[in-house]
Amino acid sequence: MKFFVDTADTAEIKSLSSSGLLDGVTTNPSLIAKSGRKFVEVIDEICDIVPGPVSAEVAATDYDGMMREAHVLRAIAKNVAIKVPLTPDGLRACRTLRATGTMVNVTLCFSASQALLAAKAGASFISPFVGRLDDIGESGIGLIADICQIYKAYGFATEVLVASIRNLGHVEESAKLGAHVATLPPAVLRSMFNHPLTDKGLAAFLADWAATGQTIA
Ligand code: G3P
Repeated sequence: MKFFVDTADTAEIKSLSSSGLLDGVTTNPSLIAKSGRKFVEVIDEICDIVPGPVSAEVAATDYDGMMREAHVLRAIAKNVAIKVPLTPDGLRACRTLRATGTMVNVTLCFSASQALLAAKAGASFISPFVGRLDDIGESGIGLIADICQIYKAYGFATEVLVASIRNLGHVEESAKLGAHVATLPPAVLRSMFNHPLTDKGLAAFLADWAATGQTIA
């Protein structure tokens, strides 16, 4: 499973990428707004930090506008993935962009039918939002299971990019289902390292080691 980080905070991205575990980055207009920085400048900086796909979302909602914006965004770096909303115009833009070899992430997916349309439009990634489905009393992970089953049945090349992740349960269940990518808020990615028994075990090993009075190097 690939790990992307879902943030436009370049300090966080630098710090997390030093672990060598980061395969890409996703941003959205809300995350760009939160950064308080200029969109193109932030994407440019992120693309320099992480060699994998960096999603940059269009703000236009019509096909021509999306294509104009995509033209600007894909010129930033080779690893930019244009993020388009799951609408008729978004999927039309997806098809055109894919025909010219541009990576496309289709976002705001909340149903298996939508995911099927995105795969048929040749999307590189489909982004189902698990947390937001849970918020309205539906099963986000249930949707991931449905999409993985459908994509496998037809051999679609579109990668399932699990988005709107809120906890480790979302990550682990998505991995069990074979989802290709999880995009994680930095705090969730950091929490993957933690287990109280790891802390307790390490403290005991360090105390026992200190008692030997030895050094290794
Ligand atoms: O980037 C899309 C998605 O990950 C947003 O998550 O937490 O705003 O529902 P959230």
